[in-house]
Amino acid sequence: MIDQQTIDRIMDAADIVEVVSDFVSLRKRGVNYIGLCPFHDEKTPSFSVSPSKGICKCFSCGKGGTSVHFIMEHEQMTYYEALRYLAKKYNIEIVERELSDKEKAAKSLREEMLLINEYAQNFFVETLWNTQEGKNIGLAYFYERGFRDDIIKKFGLGYSPESRDALSQKAIKSGYKKELLINTGLSIENQEHTSIADRFRGRVMFPVYSLSGKVVAFGGRVLRTSDKVAKYVNSPESEIYHKSNILYGIYQAKSAIVKNDRCFLVEGYTDVLSMHQAGISNVVASSGTSLTTGQIRQIHRFTSNIILLYDGDAAGIKASLRGIDLLLEEGMNVKVVLLPDGDDPDSFSKKQSADSFAKYIKEHETDFITFKTRLLIGEAGNDPIRRATLIGDIVRSISVIPDDIARSVYIKECSRMMEMREDVLMQTVSKERIKRVESGASPVTVPQVAPPHTQADEYPAGDIMAAIQAGKENPVSQFEEYEQRIIRLIIKYGLTPIYYTGGERQDVITYIVKELENDEITLQTPIYDKIITEAVQIREKYLPSDKDELFLFDEIEAPSERAKIAAWREHVEKLNHSFMRHFLNHQDEAISTAAVNMISEKYRLSKKNTIKSEEERLYTLVRRSVTELKDAIVTAKIKELNAELKTAYREKEHAHITALLEELNEYKTIKTLLSKELGERIINPV
Ligand code: CTP
Ligand code: MN
Repeated sequence: MIDQQTIDRIMDAADIVEVVSDFVSLRKRGVNYIGLCPFHDEKTPSFSVSPSKGICKCFSCGKGGTSVHFIMEHEQMTYYEALRYLAKKYNIEIVERELSDKEKAAKSLREEMLLINEYAQNFFVETLWNTQEGKNIGLAYFYERGFRDDIIKKFGLGYSPESRDALSQKAIKSGYKKELLINTGLSIENQEHTSIADRFRGRVMFPVYSLSGKVVAFGGRVLRTSDKVAKYVNSPESEIYHKSNILYGIYQAKSAIVKNDRCFLVEGYTDVLSMHQAGISNVVASSGTSLTTGQIRQIHRFTSNIILLYDGDAAGIKASLRGIDLLLEEGMNVKVVLLPDGDDPDSFSKKQSADSFAKYIKEHETDFITFKTRLLIGEAGNDPIRRATLIGDIVRSISVIPDDIARSVYIKECSRMMEMREDVLMQTVSKERIKRVESGASPVTVPQVAPPHTQADEYPAGDIMAAIQAGKENPVSQFEEYEQRIIRLIIKYGLTPIYYTGGERQDVITYIVKELENDEITLQTPIYDKIITEAVQIREKYLPSDKDELFLFDEIEAPSERAKIAAWREHVEKLNHSFMRHFLNHQDEAISTAAVNMISEKYRLSKKNTIKSEEERLYTLVRRSVTELKDAIVTAKIKELNAELKTAYREKEHAHITALLEELNEYKTIKTLLSKELGERIINPV
């Protein structure tokens, strides 16, 4: 855990323009900067960066936030990882907070498993580079295969010594529990539970990183392939390793995938390494199995374009065709590159220069449907029955594509290639789609939001934004809109003094809270209720130690005192700024996202009212926002009472009717007062 002071220092140092500029090219526009949004594909810039507020936001897809949010989203990191990233960028030393006993206890098994994997990872790397055996056997092997030092380091490759239990013994001596070694699969226990041995002994090691760079598993390769031993031994499934959700290389590839807006898919570990070595780093491996939906969606978070690299003579191509339909079904654009006979990306890239390899890919990439059609036509020849099967096969692939336009483009293309009438093909595709729906096959739609990650160490950065946006269409409470306006004023101007009662000025928070308490109003939207409660709790912390300071220039009117007023304003603004930052940097993503959204430009009030600044009209704004909420509540109450009254009349409950009428009258009086106030404000704005 990083202590609060360090977090503050990181936030102070992190310049949003600088942070974003590492990934997005920005142009100045007015006081802000704009650029192409890195989170979605666009041609005209809608990504705006505000240096004064320290936030960025895409007005098209809604993503963004503080420097921390940006890094979390862009680099797919957790909150703390993003802080560490920024600390490193700005040379800030991280001060860790001592964990409480409770927190220590709460450190889950998964975290411990990740820790021991990290330990093992260091051990394998140490052994590779710094022991005789490691250098002579492991490193020599990697060199023999032509891997450069920088690639070996980038992928954290290592070596596990021949000795029966070198790692197990060392880990236990360092205080790791035996159970952890077994849980993670680093060690294997004998049946009698009397001894343990290293699973990976005598193998070169490929750590498998999660999206956020945690080692969740290992693959260990034997040095000399033989029929007797499996070429690779992999970590077993565990709490931290779900094979079907992991893509080898995703951690090292993700920013390149975003940057290039496409992702290469290869089969093996060594293919990934070789492609990196050839300068192509937007590449992941399925590790020898066919892709799962989970894996596809992980790629889809970064791009919709996938390019499969195939060995030219592999019988595997045909076998994997079905799996590719899954990619189409998820709305991916699929291309295929066929390598020359007998070459996989690893061997092929080593025969090429980086340039000629890239050129080969460019010249040979073929759209998948076209590729499949060509492949099958070649096979079927003129045999009518085989041609019919082939058509059915291709139609099935086309029919899973969620996008209507893409489908019709493919139909056109296939009709040309197969010399078949377009409308006939179209009909067959439609029939196939109906069949799919009826058979209850997955509905043919593109998932908009990535599913929550199942990996142990992931943090649902993007999902929160989506959740908030989803919440917009489906308000949490009927007063959400009104409550939001109030919360926005609190976050932005919470500490600004505005009102005089009994000779005492109040800050915005105090004023609002008192107003709400007087009428026994609690906010209905849970997140806003949470924010207001917290605002009250932390308010003191952000006030100057000498509170009179805030009210010092209360009554100053003389023009000669203007400078003082300006200084005072600036002072209050600073206080508000750090107060606001508490929410912007909140660890509860829902809160920080709400805060970011609220202080973003699109919440600026309507043009009509911008003659005076918000600060100048603050009292009016605050008061009106509270009144409007009250009005909404009262209106709802009246509606409710009217409905009740109707029932009471129908049921002839006389006593109840009288009581209801009385109550209704009361509310109507209040309503009139509120309307009057609102009306007056509208006609005669202060
Ligand atoms: N694989 C595995 N277990 C095996 C064989 C293969 O897990 N017994 C997985 C590995 O992830 C491997 C991938 O399938 O990377 C592809 O297999 P292969 O092409 O045989 O391995 P390469 O990584 O290409 O290894 P090499 O080039 O060293 O033969
Ligand atoms: Mn291979």
